[in-house]
Amino acid sequence: MTSISIDRKLPEGFFEASLRADVIAGLTATPKSLPPKWFYDELGSELFDKITRLDEYYPTRAEREILTAASAEIAAVTRATTLVELGSGTADKTGLLLDALHALGSLRLYVPVDVSESALVTAASRMLDRYRGRRGVLGGRPPEPALRVRAVLSDFTAELGLPAGDGPRLVAFLGGTIGNMLPAERAAFLAGLRQQLRAGDALLLGTDLVKDPALLVAAYDDSAGVTAEFNKNILRVLNAELGADFDLDEFEHVALWNAQAEWIEMRLRSASDQAVRLPAVGLRVHFSAGEEMRTEVSAKFRRAGVTAELAAAGLELARWWTDEEGRFGLSLSVPR
Ligand code: AVJ
Repeated sequence: MTSISIDRKLPEGFFEASLRADVIAGLTATPKSLPPKWFYDELGSELFDKITRLDEYYPTRAEREILTAASAEIAAVTRATTLVELGSGTADKTGLLLDALHALGSLRLYVPVDVSESALVTAASRMLDRYRGRRGVLGGRPPEPALRVRAVLSDFTAELGLPAGDGPRLVAFLGGTIGNMLPAERAAFLAGLRQQLRAGDALLLGTDLVKDPALLVAAYDDSAGVTAEFNKNILRVLNAELGADFDLDEFEHVALWNAQAEWIEMRLRSASDQAVRLPAVGLRVHFSAGEEMRTEVSAKFRRAGVTAELAAAGLELARWWTDEEGRFGLSLSVPR
């Protein structure tokens, strides 16, 4: 049994307060919207993990393919002692990176950062387990844990949890999660991250790439309906956390390709004219029949765009990999 201690970077009540603020802002705006970070309660994190195993949802497999091929090179180039993983989720692919860094002998500390406490516990215990049997490699020395884990419960847009310790540090932001930010948010996020990086540190960024819209839409509107469940889970979160009375059967899952912005948009479409009460924020919100509320954008990138966004933040692209089919991009960049 391992006990995982979680470092709460945010002030007491921050989550509750930011959920309330996000809901008030999003549901009183025209058109209505909700930020995607609120999908990820325990059930939402489980549903997302289920999505990553769907036939139609290629990004996870494509990124794993890249990491399998490139981890040794990433380790050799960065020689990181600390791996900070932003939006770690359950850290499904992280073992590939950690193993490569561990093989070099440089790895000391893994810092998963996520908004989901349940996902963090999974990520942290998974990695501790992975390295438990790998102690005391230097015979005779007192056994030392091969890896320390410091789990940070945080919204990575607010607090990155970069440990001050000696570097070099590799910050991994995988899965294409940066695509869930709007362009201005991405710019602010990358600039803020750049401020915290020192010479020798590096950023490993996963970005899903522009491709045939039919493939993209299928990835966000799977035939088993798991993504629809995931999308509606945000309403379940509002019901549980704010005492709201959303009827999930009165909303339909919508996934569409916005060719102008080059992003997938997920929306929830009201099936009828209805009013929803959210007592905890003192709102009564009206939805007309057919009205759509945006719950997520998932931007798709091109290499030139990634390079330019990194450069604008003071980061220089050092390496670029894609999977065999060119569906997903992984970049390694360094402070300029
Ligand atoms: C977790 C952000 C990578 O945008 O593809 C999956 C979330 N949304 N299906 C994505 C998601 C719908 C996912 N990321």
